[in-house]
Amino acid sequence: MALNAQPLSDKFAVAITGVDLSKELDQELFDEIVDIFVRKQVVVFRDQHIEPQHQLAFSRKFGPLEMLFDDDQRVAGFPEVAILSNEKVAGKFIGVVAAGDFWHSDQSYRKTPSLATMLYAHKIPKIGGDTEFADMHGAYESLPDEIKKRIEGRMGINQRSKLGNHRVAVTREGGEEYYQRKAANNVLHPMVRTHPVTGRKGLYVSPRFTVGIEGMDDAEAQPLLDTLFAYQTAPGNVYRHKWTLGDFVMWDNRSLNHQACGGYAMDDIRLMHRTSTIGDEPFA
Ligand code: SIN
Repeated sequence: MALNAQPLSDKFAVAITGVDLSKELDQELFDEIVDIFVRKQVVVFRDQHIEPQHQLAFSRKFGPLEMLFDDDQRVAGFPEVAILSNEKVAGKFIGVVAAGDFWHSDQSYRKTPSLATMLYAHKIPKIGGDTEFADMHGAYESLPDEIKKRIEGRMGINQRSKLGNHRVAVTREGGEEYYQRKAANNVLHPMVRTHPVTGRKGLYVSPRFTVGIEGMDDAEAQPLLDTLFAYQTAPGNVYRHKWTLGDFVMWDNRSLNHQACGGYAMDDIRLMHRTSTIGDEPFA
């Protein structure tokens, strides 16, 4: 079966219609989806009606699942399905509020960061709530040779905590305490990462998690990181997804940064179910 895949931007991101992710996919169709996923980086499946068990079954095909956030921020009975939402029940948020609110690649503060992330829209706000994606292959390829030379072979210093990262702010209630509790060691990753399937090179740094460059003074490293982040978000390098109910979006963290754009009122409910898979250790 040939998939109906429509481009969403000039270079990357496609929308697929005519596939029902609540059903078992045959191998040929699944292989086609994987091929589109690694080449196009963001895949939007339209018109889905899926329950947590369907999301889990599809996500598992891309690797072992991550279990993120706290118990009370996950779907009961499906701990690998996290809830991202501003909805409250009995005065308490039912999920993570303002998750992913600065540019990042998922779990890049770990030695083995995420491969695929899947987000399914159960409720979308009337205003705001978009997600932006930046093509990190495109960002790398657009760098002048002089900058490529400066970062060749270099390792970025990545950190989970927002505390001490001047490019981000703690936006959620109780966030300071949360990051103190979750604080962990710095993790080094190559600043230029080779995609393990396509062999394409891409930048692997983000304002959210990359706080320095190993062996380089901050006086040189911080302006260099600012320059790299500016290439990441240059015109033509970003796709902004405006959600429609029933969208199931998956993206490749090995070649993209993304951010949740926010911009919705606290009583205008956004409710997403999120799964992600564990990837390989990045290599240069
Ligand atoms: C994320 O960064 O995982 C969440 C993105 C979003 O909610 O738009």
